[in-house]
Amino acid sequence: MNTLHLLATCARGFEPCLERELKSLACNGLKATNGGVIFEADFEQAMKVCLWSRIANKIEVLIKEDYVTRESDLYDLGKKIPLEPWFSPEATFCIHAHVNDEKLGKCSFLALKFKDGIVDQMRDKWGRRASVDTDRPDVVVGLQIIQRKARVFIELQGDPLNMRGYRRRQIQAPIRETLAASMIALSEWQPQNGIFIDPMCGSGTFAIEAALIATQTAPGIQRHFGFEKLPFFPEKANTWRILRDEAREISKKTRKNFNAEIRAVDIDSAALDIALNNAQTAGVADLIQFTRGDILKMKPISQATLVTNPPYGERITVDDLDLPEFYYQLGRLVRTFANSSLTIISTAELLKKNMHMKPSQRIATYNGPIACEVATYQLGISR
Ligand SMILES: C[S@@+](CC[C@H](N)C(=O)[O-])C[C@H]1O[C@@H](n2cnc3c(N)ncnc32)[C@H](O)[C@@H]1O
Repeated sequence: MNTLHLLATCARGFEPCLERELKSLACNGLKATNGGVIFEADFEQAMKVCLWSRIANKIEVLIKEDYVTRESDLYDLGKKIPLEPWFSPEATFCIHAHVNDEKLGKCSFLALKFKDGIVDQMRDKWGRRASVDTDRPDVVVGLQIIQRKARVFIELQGDPLNMRGYRRRQIQAPIRETLAASMIALSEWQPQNGIFIDPMCGSGTFAIEAALIATQTAPGIQRHFGFEKLPFFPEKANTWRILRDEAREISKKTRKNFNAEIRAVDIDSAALDIALNNAQTAGVADLIQFTRGDILKMKPISQATLVTNPPYGERITVDDLDLPEFYYQLGRLVRTFANSSLTIISTAELLKKNMHMKPSQRIATYNGPIACEVATYQLGISR
């Protein structure tokens, strides 16, 4: 197995941030697509990307591409995909299908045809077939059909990469860890250039991600990955162990010289409790200052990078909070800050109508199913 063709997916709009991150991880052949970046790497590098990417949600190997025009083509596609080294008779598998072509047929039916092709190919080749397991499969096969173009992937990550393992408890509307890290990348915060603050921290995701960045801690260091169950993984296990040991060493060394200031604030003491708990699980509780407070009563500050996710929604009020008024007051307050920036996620309408500031950057994205906007405002910059 030499060069692999891979796809890393991310929150929509953050493809350039992911591209920069993959470049810093020494990946080649980078090309941004809608919702992701394609790149080339060998298996060792691909494992490293799973361990180190803060922004990607999934890392998948592209193993086959073809055009499909009718249902029976899916069976043929299953018969043609390369079985080795990805499958073995002993390794269970399942198919995650995503089809955006109604005319071709129902997604579940197309996936079934595709699976029939795969198992018939196995029988022809090995005289027996692997079992399907939809709960805890060893191999996850991605099938994507967009405008008659079928792509077949092997997913490397297992659980999505946002599941770092530290968020054991959460408040009602937590942000995905990968989206939080993407917003921090957009804010361009660096530990040496000032205070990091999430003034509405909820379960603490932004502050914890900032602490992981400041200590150069690999975001995946506490979890397992799907590739560890692939049939040929035992041959790679030693390389994987070395990659993890190196990552632990880097984090340990960086922690010794830690000099960042990271603050997590929330009005709700129950949320702060959860944030502290999560930070303890992530091993960074001692690096974050947790304080109870109301953002609207915050004293003017300078040299700070604020990254936050205030309450928002389709409704005008959330928990009795008048949202337009809250955003208006928030805009008024942060305009008094000096040499600082605010990167915020909310609905485009709440930001546009109430903040009364022109963002230096804005990205249309999704937080779960909700369409929203991430905006960065430069605050009181004196040049
Ligand atoms: C959408 S949640 C934040 C979710 C968080 N990013 C996470 O990952 O869990 C909004 C948070 O803002 C807090 N909040 C609401 N009004 C506030 C205020 N005036 N000052 C500080 N925090 C406030 C809420 O208690 C809630 O925890």
